[in-house]
Amino acid sequence: MSIKLNEKYVEKFVSKEELAAMQEEISRAADILDSRSGAGSDFLGWVDLPENYDKCEFAAIKEAAEKIKKSCDILVVIGIGGSYLGARAVIEFLKSPLYNNLKKDTPDIYYAGNSLSATALSELLSICEGKDICINVISKSGTTTEPAVAFRIFRNLLEEKYGKEGARERIFVTTDREKGTLKSFSDESGYKTFVVPDDVGGRFSVLTAVGLLPIAVAGIDIDKLMEGANTARLALCDKDIEKNDCYKYAAVRNILLRKGKVTEIFVSYEPYAQMFSEWWKQLYGESEGKDGKGIYPASAIFSTDLHSLGQYIQEGQRTIFETVLDVKDSMAEMPIPDDANNIDGLNFLSGKDLDFVNKNAMKGTLLAHMDGNVPNIVIELDKKDEHSLGYMIYFFEKACAVSGYTLGVNPFNQPGVEAYKKNMFALLGKPGYEEQKKALDERLK
Ligand code: PA5
Repeated sequence: MSIKLNEKYVEKFVSKEELAAMQEEISRAADILDSRSGAGSDFLGWVDLPENYDKCEFAAIKEAAEKIKKSCDILVVIGIGGSYLGARAVIEFLKSPLYNNLKKDTPDIYYAGNSLSATALSELLSICEGKDICINVISKSGTTTEPAVAFRIFRNLLEEKYGKEGARERIFVTTDREKGTLKSFSDESGYKTFVVPDDVGGRFSVLTAVGLLPIAVAGIDIDKLMEGANTARLALCDKDIEKNDCYKYAAVRNILLRKGKVTEIFVSYEPYAQMFSEWWKQLYGESEGKDGKGIYPASAIFSTDLHSLGQYIQEGQRTIFETVLDVKDSMAEMPIPDDANNIDGLNFLSGKDLDFVNKNAMKGTLLAHMDGNVPNIVIELDKKDEHSLGYMIYFFEKACAVSGYTLGVNPFNQPGVEAYKKNMFALLGKPGYEEQKKALDERLK
């Protein structure tokens, strides 16, 4: 088991009886998932993916990753939401948030097409000046505005720099198997394409080519990542909450929601988990936030954010709970030096490792927040490696599906994402949106 749920800091808020009373609902939700009879069951490809993934595609991903490593200084990953968060989460978790600044024999990786910021894109273009570049465009629909705009710009750049022929060797596209303009355009242009399986939604797609190609380029062992996910797939099947921490997590968060805890803060004491938190937020926010239901997923990095959000968490509205990621083996060693003058009064820590201090900050905070009536679910991860991370990804995906069904929503759709797009297209004058534009212009007067 790579993951253990530690209940010590949540027991005060969720009794054994309440947990037992939740068993029936969780079993029902798990049955719905297992029998593929629930809403969104067309999108359950992620469930068996760690075992049933396309081995030929997997080999092609590794081959493309080697080609990219050899031919560029910078890989630009173009995608938004589920089309880039997973890759970035894994790369930053296992390598570093400072991956690009590390001494390494793999390309720098930058991310584009995840906003509409001209500033962000022009900064990236200037970073790319004089560098050899490859791009990986990732869009299941192929029509999402943010990545499509960035793709236009980087395609032009590559064609100017390398010519059409040369650019073709540097453009890698991950999109739908058959449908969509991006697929047909890529085939016509001779770009190497990878598949987003039909039955895997964006936020569940990190273990497909969507995530795996950039992850492999970063030099991460994708075999071990898949093995970890598969270990979780096999381990997290028991419907008994007391024997399955994945389902216990789903149960506890639903109990807390019913007690008015409407915000869940995903906490880590390691900055390398920042993007993992972003991935987790999309997974839970997009899966559960609908039909007027759901828990608002927030995140924090401690102890950093104890100096900004700490006050609110300790004493603000009592509508929050925390899910704390405790990575047991930090891997890094950083002994604290002695200071002859002890000017900061910290010589009692001389020779102690910084991770020991961090762990004690965590223990102290867990107790303080519990005393402040903030329930804390602690997720203990044994170590920071591919296998454990693959396990954790699957753990949260499966818990999310069961939690969503327990909540009574379709965890696999995202109808609400369309509303801003419709308004934006109307305001931008997209053909076919004339009536909406008039109405919106009126409202904006
Ligand atoms: O999880 C999702 O479905 C979304 O976040 C999508 O991944 C995101 O909107 C990007 O869509 P697409 O891959 O079609 O460009």
